[in-house]
Amino acid sequence: MANFERVTAHDHPSPREQSATPAGDDPVLAAIAALPPPLPLAALFADDPDRATRCVVEAADLRVDYSKHGIDASMFDELVALAGAAGVPERRDAMFAGEHINVTEDRAVGHPALRAPRDATFVIDGRDVVPDVHEVLDRMAAFADRIRADERIEHVVNIGIGGSDLGPAMATRALDAYRHERIRCSFVSNIDGTAIADVLADSEPASTLFIVASKTFGTIETLTNARTARQWLVDALGAEAVADHFVAVSTHRQRVEAFGIDPENMFGFWDWVGGRYSVGSAIGLSLMIAIGPARFRQFLDGMHAIDLHYRTAPLEANAPVIMGMLGVWYICRLGHATKAVLPYAQELARLPAYLQQLDMESNGKSVRLDGSRVRTHTGPVVWGEPGTNGQHAFYQLLHQGTEIVPADLIGFATAHHPYQEHHDLLVANLIAQSEALAFGRRNADEPYRNFDGERPTTVIMAPRLTPSVLGQLIALYEHVVNVQGTVWGINSYDQWGVELGKELANVITPELQGAPDPDRHDPSTNALIDWYRARR
Ligand code: F6P
Repeated sequence: MANFERVTAHDHPSPREQSATPAGDDPVLAAIAALPPPLPLAALFADDPDRATRCVVEAADLRVDYSKHGIDASMFDELVALAGAAGVPERRDAMFAGEHINVTEDRAVGHPALRAPRDATFVIDGRDVVPDVHEVLDRMAAFADRIRADERIEHVVNIGIGGSDLGPAMATRALDAYRHERIRCSFVSNIDGTAIADVLADSEPASTLFIVASKTFGTIETLTNARTARQWLVDALGAEAVADHFVAVSTHRQRVEAFGIDPENMFGFWDWVGGRYSVGSAIGLSLMIAIGPARFRQFLDGMHAIDLHYRTAPLEANAPVIMGMLGVWYICRLGHATKAVLPYAQELARLPAYLQQLDMESNGKSVRLDGSRVRTHTGPVVWGEPGTNGQHAFYQLLHQGTEIVPADLIGFATAHHPYQEHHDLLVANLIAQSEALAFGRRNADEPYRNFDGERPTTVIMAPRLTPSVLGQLIALYEHVVNVQGTVWGINSYDQWGVELGKELANVITPELQGAPDPDRHDPSTNALIDWYRARR
């Protein structure tokens, strides 16, 4: 057997079994589990003529409308009070104070420092990191300006995975309207050779810049893809071309050097930046090249604006707190295990995937900070697609299915394209969906045409999808994760759950290529290995 201890069935009850004893001895979770169920939305609006404007929070440019959640003023007050009782302000402040709130890795959680203005202070381990952050940003800006001015480079290929891919991939797509017209960006993440093969087939060696992005510079997918890309370049232009066509983004200087990239061509960041929180670090280099340093700064300023909002807005007017506590109520009290993110903007097509990592890798945990098992459900399954495409695919279930899926609808007052009619139709659909999901339509005669309504949505609107607004959206969701992780008492900033699969893949790879060891695995795993070996 492989050298790790197997967990046998019933060593631990599953979280679903545990939730039969809701919340355990945590008073806040017990109070959330004891909250009332949702109230009918039509009655809530009828009883409170101001609800449509009262239940809206303005955070920087974001208008966050939570009026279509079935809570009245007293339930709202209770949820906000429970955020306070759970220690949300204290844990938030500990993050901003640079404390090691990532306890299992004994690290600070410093992503807000990445967007701090030059004159701010953010102390981590006794050092003000803001000058370090700006030193890297300045180097990135000089490099980005050089590439943008260099007529030879037309294609930037980011090779990275997880947080070293999803952030820049999502953001460059979201901000395509701001992209330098000569430079296009591609992203290679998957170990599946199809990914790199497709991009190389669409690239010219002389006009391509590769960014190898990896916090650890030890991720097998990224290093394998980077080696393949380097060989392709060397075959075409010779080994001396690597210096001009490869740069690295990493925290690990020695590994970058060992890979053959001159540290002069490396942009660093720090262990206190989690991968899924790293788009504002040097991991955003491809985005900076695409949109330019000034707009990248606007992107960071947008994040910073929401950092300030989260730090300073009272809990009852604090968008991450309100969204976070509603989510905890849905999961812990009402058992709504999934959450949909539905951007009404084609440019945000990758936002659901980005938020999947942000939320699920952060709060998909079942052990609390004190080592005990959680007694409730934690992070939701996050999923989604841009509207209106999703409407013609899975909204049927949202409207009439037996599963209630709380959803965020995201839209913008103005578009980047010139087709006003399209945009009016798009926004009309967003608004119509929030209306239909909330209020439904009764049809007693034809039950298959009946819409119950009472399906909750948060509607997030902004004037336009600018770099700043994108930064604001990202920071909003980052802080929702912080709120929820605090309430559940889990560490949102480690990701041990991805380790076992990686370890086993390293055991199995040589067995596919050489001699398998039948004593190592269970019968099902052995059979799969045998099937593949017979056919590879
Ligand atoms: O496997 C998960 C993970 O560790 C993510 O948290 C991270 O974003 C990704 O892998 C990539 O890691 P790296 O940037 O070190 O290559």
